[in-house]
Amino acid sequence: MKRDLISIDDLGRADLERYLALAAKVEGLEPEAKRDKLPGRVLAVMFFEPSTRTRLSFESAMCRLGGSVLGFSEAASTSAAKGESLRDTARTVERYAGQMVIRPPREGAARAAAEATGVPVINAGDGANQHPSQTLLDLYTIQKFFGGLKKGLRIALVGDLKYSRTIHSLVQALALFEGLEFHLVSPPALRLPGYLMETGAARKASFHESEDLRAAIRRSDVLYMTRIQKERFPDVLDYEKVKDAYVLNREMLEEAPRGLRVMHPLPRVNEIAADVDETGHAGYFEQVGHGLVVRQAVLLDLLGVAPGPTTTTRCCTSRRSRRGRSSTTSPPASGSRSWRSSTATRR
Ligand code: NCD
Repeated sequence: MKRDLISIDDLGRADLERYLALAAKVEGLEPEAKRDKLPGRVLAVMFFEPSTRTRLSFESAMCRLGGSVLGFSEAASTSAAKGESLRDTARTVERYAGQMVIRPPREGAARAAAEATGVPVINAGDGANQHPSQTLLDLYTIQKFFGGLKKGLRIALVGDLKYSRTIHSLVQALALFEGLEFHLVSPPALRLPGYLMETGAARKASFHESEDLRAAIRRSDVLYMTRIQKERFPDVLDYEKVKDAYVLNREMLEEAPRGLRVMHPLPRVNEIAADVDETGHAGYFEQVGHGLVVRQAVLLDLLGVAPGPTTTTRCCTSRRSRRGRSSTTSPPASGSRSWRSSTATRR
């Protein structure tokens, strides 16, 4: 049966831990051991809403596994603009690609696309609902920063807890790890939705809600900042009231515990001042970097390909082919100089 990645709610703690372990394995592989994992495989990236990191990291992940990518990055250039349903678009694209990454504007639409097709579908953010691959990379990052998702770890989630899909997925995931302490910091209008508070409570997570960012900074290990999601507000005037509710700067971090790390799924608008970037607390660009190995792990896993070291390799720049002979000739051994020189800088 084909597998998808649609919602963190579909996963248990063991699934999350398995993904984290797979990502660590992928990270430990040499670039040349990865580049022929998915030869001939095609990934469709179907983005109906804007994206920089999610789309490009999936594309990069697939290319570096030896597969190829096709897709679109806005609805306007697709038949959706003519009124085609997402189901029909997905049923079409499954004829061209063996796996799909999809970012539809409507909540629940990624699951509908998964149900309509026979290829693995990855939800890259369906409206304000879920963003599971972001959560996997967030967990991976926390694990890297703190050596695990350990009991007693204090996590502050700050900003737009109502509309941020990264928060919705992350809360569900973190609530599966016992003993974490959560501080939910938001304006009253942007509190975490009730159903997520209930999920947390059912999983025995304890949430402390407040509006006080400075107090949360003093008692947190992770400060997970979010953008106020302007595009989700029914009335832009309501957005104007809260848009600069939290702006973290270097001076505010003077009261932080030494080991506090600031995370953010990015893009940031005003919520983290540039002077934070130069502090040892800034963790958001390291976090971005983890997206690549985590998404490689997801692509491999959903296709049932193990991330173990590759024993045979194929290389399109073998010595013989570069001398103008057939490009279908055998590759050099994986340790040969010509192989290394062609891949040395790739992840
Ligand atoms: C987030 C998203 O799209 O939900 N970005 C991302 O995927 N890295 C966060 C956001 O847009 O604020």
